[in-house]
Amino acid sequence: MADASQGSDFVVVANRLPVDLEKLPDGSTRWKRSPGGLVTALEPILRANKGAWVGWVGVSDVDVEPFVEDGLQLRPVTISEKEYTQYYEGFSNATLWPLYHDVIVKPEYDRDWWNAYVEVNRRFAEKTSEAAAQGATVWIQDYQLQLVPKMLRMLRPDLTIGFFLHIPFPPIELFMQMPWRTEIVEGLLGADLIGFHLSGGAQNFLYLARRLAGGTTSRGTVGVRSKLGVVQVGFRTVRVGAFPISIDSGDLDTKSRSKAVRDRAKQLRKDLGNPKRIMLGVDRLDYTKGIDVRLNAFRELLEEGRVDPAENVIVQLATPSRERVESYVAMRGEIEQQVGRINGEYGQVGHPVVHYLHRPIPRDDLLAYFVAADVMLVTPLRDGMNLVAKEYVACRSDLGGALVLSEFTGAAAELRQAYLCNPHDLDSVKDAIIGALEQEPEAGKRHMRAMRRQVLAHDVDRWARSFLTALAAPAEGTNLSR
Ligand code: ADP
Ligand code: G6P
Repeated sequence: MADASQGSDFVVVANRLPVDLEKLPDGSTRWKRSPGGLVTALEPILRANKGAWVGWVGVSDVDVEPFVEDGLQLRPVTISEKEYTQYYEGFSNATLWPLYHDVIVKPEYDRDWWNAYVEVNRRFAEKTSEAAAQGATVWIQDYQLQLVPKMLRMLRPDLTIGFFLHIPFPPIELFMQMPWRTEIVEGLLGADLIGFHLSGGAQNFLYLARRLAGGTTSRGTVGVRSKLGVVQVGFRTVRVGAFPISIDSGDLDTKSRSKAVRDRAKQLRKDLGNPKRIMLGVDRLDYTKGIDVRLNAFRELLEEGRVDPAENVIVQLATPSRERVESYVAMRGEIEQQVGRINGEYGQVGHPVVHYLHRPIPRDDLLAYFVAADVMLVTPLRDGMNLVAKEYVACRSDLGGALVLSEFTGAAAELRQAYLCNPHDLDSVKDAIIGALEQEPEAGKRHMRAMRRQVLAHDVDRWARSFLTALAAPAEGTNLSR
């Protein structure tokens, strides 16, 4: 067993550990996989690099000693109940999350939440400083920890520090709303390399570094996995780049070909009453995901008689998420009402048209759903990447199925052969669904083959390697301007 008390040469820092502590009704506890795309992407990388992971166990007020779980060295950070409310539910998920997702919901700006964010970021920096060996590489993740790069650099100037943002970086005009905008930009500039999914995010950040932090920056266009931007901060050079994240596509491809998954997919179709077409949504229950958009589109298609309720069903798998945050409570109510309304109007006894599960689905079952689904519905109003779209493609070695994909996802930049739609325009979503339901088999195969080529060649390992290689490379001089 690895010794968790020694410093590691490679440390990942994220708000959550890859496992959450679950308290069972009988008072005992167990570990379960944490929700979300960040964990899906990073877990295989950390295993391969034999590093340590600093993060929270997902429950407030529990102190857990460093431990080794399934070969991963985990270093828990404690968060109090008050910090859970102010740092996690408040500043992270009721301020930053909506602000960075195009203010779909109005962000709340609260000084106490900000103070808690600073406090918890400091604790993460201190824990990371204890976990990292001399000269180690530390990779900080996501919007909950944007102050950690600067705080950690002050504690440990010997470290090489990378930061990756898993959600979109907003347009400049929206970012400028943030009362603590300068502190956040300066916090990020503590890193040696700052990564975004898309070039646009990197470019917005460069502008803000110039305007808010007075940095001297490069002016050229940032490329994808190439042509990094540069910010000169005193004697330090910070690089900024676009690194679109991905999945362990080879692993999903292999697993989805197994007989067990294929059989389970057949069984699912049977359980659903052998409909002609199965449409599938798989999301955290989040207002950014546009679950309401696809349900509205489906209801209108039924109303207009363009889709037959006797032949088509939607399965919506929704993992509970941020369940006490007001906007999430309201959205859940609305979605469940929509599901009830559609089933009330178009379902039959024993044959609902929308099958809705509000719980996480075991990984193997999820693959079977992907294999069974004729049409995958990915309709976010805004999403940094959306790994579900890539997972679906990776599971379709049979070249079957069709992907309906919102233009407002990072994935849309790579999966150009999907049925792309604008989730703000219901007619566009309806047309994309009809296009997917009625596609010619040969055209469908062509589209799926092209998308699979993209997803299999650009897997999560390539994402991590391109980021970590850039992080390890010495910064080169570029034409800088103020
Ligand atoms: P986000 O990170 O915003 O949750 P992504 O689409 O990037 O969105 O990643 C979501 C991850 O969570 C994927 O790996 C997906 O398979 C998984 N997931 C989403 N919904 C469910 C569900 N209902 N059951 C099990 N896993 C889910
Ligand atoms: C997204 C975010 C992650 C977050 C995950 C789950 O993937 O980018 O940082 O961990 O959602 O959300 P939660 O609030 O449950 O951690």
